Amino acid sequence: MTRTQVAIIGAGPAGLLLGQLLDKQGIDNVILERQTGAYVLGRIRAGIIEQGTVGLLDSVGASARLHAEGLVHDGAQVSVDGTRHRIDFRALTGRAVTVYGQTEITRDLMKVRADSGRATVYEARDVSLHDLDSATPIVRYEKDGARQEIACDYIAGCDGFHAVSRQAIPLNKLTTHERIYPFGWLGLLSETKPVSDELIYVRHERGFALCSMRSPTRSRYYIQCSLADSIDAWPDSRFWDELALRLDSDARRNLVTGPSIEKSIAPLRSFVAEPMRYHRLFLAGDAAHIVPPTGAKGLNLAASDVGYLSAALAEFYRTGSTRGLDTYSERALRRVWLAERFSWWMTSLLHHFPDHSSFDRRVQLAELEYLFSSRAAATALAENYVGLPF
Ligand code: APR
Ligand code: PHB
Repeated sequence: MTRTQVAIIGAGPAGLLLGQLLDKQGIDNVILERQTGAYVLGRIRAGIIEQGTVGLLDSVGASARLHAEGLVHDGAQVSVDGTRHRIDFRALTGRAVTVYGQTEITRDLMKVRADSGRATVYEARDVSLHDLDSATPIVRYEKDGARQEIACDYIAGCDGFHAVSRQAIPLNKLTTHERIYPFGWLGLLSETKPVSDELIYVRHERGFALCSMRSPTRSRYYIQCSLADSIDAWPDSRFWDELALRLDSDARRNLVTGPSIEKSIAPLRSFVAEPMRYHRLFLAGDAAHIVPPTGAKGLNLAASDVGYLSAALAEFYRTGSTRGLDTYSERALRRVWLAERFSWWMTSLLHHFPDHSSFDRRVQLAELEYLFSSRAAATALAENYVGLPF
């Protein structure tokens, strides 16, 4: 049996960032991750980073590469049935976002984690949580065939949507809210020049599309697809043809195609489990909530959660006060629900819904018309996109 102050389940962005925020406060912590480090780095996810998230990465010394290689975007474009409009984040809010892949953030966090000398156990199997309502909760797991036990003061469940930590909470102590959207996103990564120097969100009768990027030479594209689709039905050539059909003529002319480096289908879901605490267990990131990727909020919400949680734990270890811990769930959920609303709204605004009536489609177009003709409406999008205050 070993002992630590905070046991963290999951070495995704939430768990790794929390571990380093605690390390900066001198709080001992151990991270348990089911997969190998290489497997965690193999996942391709979104890549829009809010300034608040950058600030947290700065504070743990994990942002040098982000500042050197990340692309600062002052605006984004929205294309509606072939006509492009620009939302100027900088002019409307004074803020911008940074385009930098989540995979790279994870890599940078893994590096500072290794340098800090704090323990990260990869390939920790059968993690289970015990005695959550006692003063000394225990985490059990298996490593290289041997049973291990960690006694701690608190447990942070940062283990993603299929979290064992969330499942350790009795069902009658948790309320869940969910919306499943009737489509998915087919994503393709390629070593090709992006069609535009800003992201283009595309609303089209054939379905949503998104032109994003990872660098000036690497593109990330998505097209809305059916949930019944399989990757095999989408050879690269079909993907590029379908994307081109949804773009405006300028973007179509600029589109450089090439072989895919990665291609995957993701379903779209909104999900919240509340409260985000059960006695000595705190949930953070995807373990507690999922947003559809349309607003690029997933990683940023995980960051604000662990920002609040690390501050509350630091207050506890410094002063003995549990005030921050007692209000963690309420504080985090307030920001979570604002991001849930925004992500749902962006999704509703831009996708083709199979069950929409002609009335629904006309209202969607009117909403877009309002967005492009009202500074107030554009500001509402911009201030959510760049990130609401932590
Ligand atoms: N035991 C240990 N580790 C686990 C277990 C388990 N039982 N179950 C899951 N994990 C690990 C996963 O292997 C993963 O590495 O927890 C980690 C959770 O990481 P993410 O799914 O990335 O979630 P989070 O850190 O909350 O990040 C949120 O990043 O992953 C994206 O879409 C997500 O953008 C969102 C943000
Ligand atoms: C991405 O670059 O992967 C990305 C960007 C913006 C989104 C979603 C995904 O809204």
